[in-house]
Amino acid sequence: MKSKGKKSNMAAEQTLVLIKPDGLIKGLTGNILTALSDAGLIIVGSKVVQVTRELAEEHYQHLREEKFFDELINYIMGEYHVKRILALVYHGENAIKKVRKVVGATNPEEAEPTSIRGKYGRITTKGVFENVVHASENPKEAEREIKLWFRPSELVHTIYPTETKKITKSEVFWK
Ligand code: TYD
Repeated sequence: MKSKGKKSNMAAEQTLVLIKPDGLIKGLTGNILTALSDAGLIIVGSKVVQVTRELAEEHYQHLREEKFFDELINYIMGEYHVKRILALVYHGENAIKKVRKVVGATNPEEAEPTSIRGKYGRITTKGVFENVVHASENPKEAEREIKLWFRPSELVHTIYPTETKKITKSEVFWK
């Protein structure tokens, strides 16, 4: 029988990365993007965002009951550093796991010393993990988060179904 060769049946994934306010204020953007480029993925969307309380609470909805929730919301909104984050969507095979590996464990003191969080993260005196970056944990979360942070038109390539709707609304244009 003829060998058909090894064909990958792994569909491409997309994952959300946020460079958090501590990463931005510490001038770590370049280092973080360089580290992430080791994962061999492509960037299909990026933007600077001023995080509202609503967006922060929606993003971290699974942690609502945690005692560190309020501090976490203040942190991601930039109350302790700078009021912006850099949001990126990475695309490629096994993107979610590959990015999480480069990013490292949630607790910066437990993260691999060579990972982004291991190198640049810290735990504050209030016990919040200032771990410099966010990366989606699994495919379900990645889809939820990408749809929360980006509109389809802001990505050069999407893997989730979209629909076109006609709407009439005021929009800001260049003069
Ligand atoms: P989580 O979603 O559990 O981890 P990850 O960011 O690795 O997906 O937690 C979200 C953020 O909450 C985490 O990046 C830092 C903060 N956090 C703390 O400050 N203390 C904690 O004990 C935990 C579990 C998280």
